[in-house]
Amino acid sequence: MSGILVTGISGFIGGYVWSILSKREDVWGVHGATGSLPLNPDRQLGLDLSKPAALAGLVEDIAPDVILHLAALARPEIVRRHSLLAWKVNNAATRELADVAEKLGSRLIFTSTDQVFDGSHGNYHEGDPPSPVNVYGETKKAAERAVLSKVENGVVVRLNNTYGPPRFHGSSFSEWILNREGNSETITLFLDQYRSPLDVVTAANALVELIDHSFTGILHLGGANRINRVNFGKMLLQHVGRDQNSILELHSAKVDPEGKMPLDTSFDITLAKQMLRTPIPNLLQGLEQVYGPARAKY
Ligand SMILES: NC(=O)c1ccc[n+]([C@@H]2O[C@H](COP(=O)([O-])OP(=O)(O)OC[C@H]3O[C@@H](n4cnc5c(N)ncnc54)[C@H](OP(=O)(O)O)[C@@H]3O)[C@@H](O)[C@H]2O)c1
Repeated sequence: MSGILVTGISGFIGGYVWSILSKREDVWGVHGATGSLPLNPDRQLGLDLSKPAALAGLVEDIAPDVILHLAALARPEIVRRHSLLAWKVNNAATRELADVAEKLGSRLIFTSTDQVFDGSHGNYHEGDPPSPVNVYGETKKAAERAVLSKVENGVVVRLNNTYGPPRFHGSSFSEWILNREGNSETITLFLDQYRSPLDVVTAANALVELIDHSFTGILHLGGANRINRVNFGKMLLQHVGRDQNSILELHSAKVDPEGKMPLDTSFDITLAKQMLRTPIPNLLQGLEQVYGPARAKY
């Protein structure tokens, strides 16, 4: 057994992870319908994870030491509209990977989400019980359980609102804001939704660091600041020197009376700061890391 297998390389975070890992000789990357990336194309495979049966044979042939599993239907709104597909990709494929990882003795690092929490109190610690309020969170909670119960060398990394420009494909909350502002569209942001946003470069570096780490269990990987979506939007626009006038400030209940969007899913990141060498920046440092120096004074 040797090497690393990464799924979801054609996604937003996967593009950054592949930029680091594709330099290695012992790496395989899996993409879906979006297709291959320009870096190290000979080590990439296309696979449809909604048909997880195909997965086990492929992984057994490669027999990687480590599987970094990023692939998912990762947008709550898309998951809501395609829930059957999301259960296959997010849960069934992860279960399949968990079985094969345990059989091979591989390390399995699975990316989950802050959306496993109902958002009722914020500052979530790794030990807090998941209680999702949307299907996306449900699929990830079930997949987490499979990884933690089946794989001895298993890691669940819960990510929290990762921002930055895409390296190849995919997008982020910050790009959504910038694109709307660029098109002079109204940017509807919620005053009562708090997150711990993390820049995508730090997220990718930390995930890569975990490949050779001995840690197992659950890790909360978010930024160092708890902030609501309105203030994040204002800070981002100010940072890149854009106008903030198109922001429309709303409370979630106006558009989400059933409460399917958790309010405060900010993280306690004490454990991540203690055990990772990758420094976790504050919001200002994170914005600089992905969008360059501030173009306006704060
Ligand atoms: N970005 C965030 O803020 C955030 C926050 C919390 C958790 N996460 C988690 O982090 C991981 C990466 O997120 P992301 O933002 O990079 O997601 P993304 O940009 O939507 O990328 C998703 C990846 O999954 C692949 N995928 C989806 N369906 C597939 C299928 N049927 N077969 C094969 N591959 C498939 C996509 O491949 P194709 O495009 O080629 O089909 C793509 O490479 C996900 O597990 C997500 O739940 C992200």
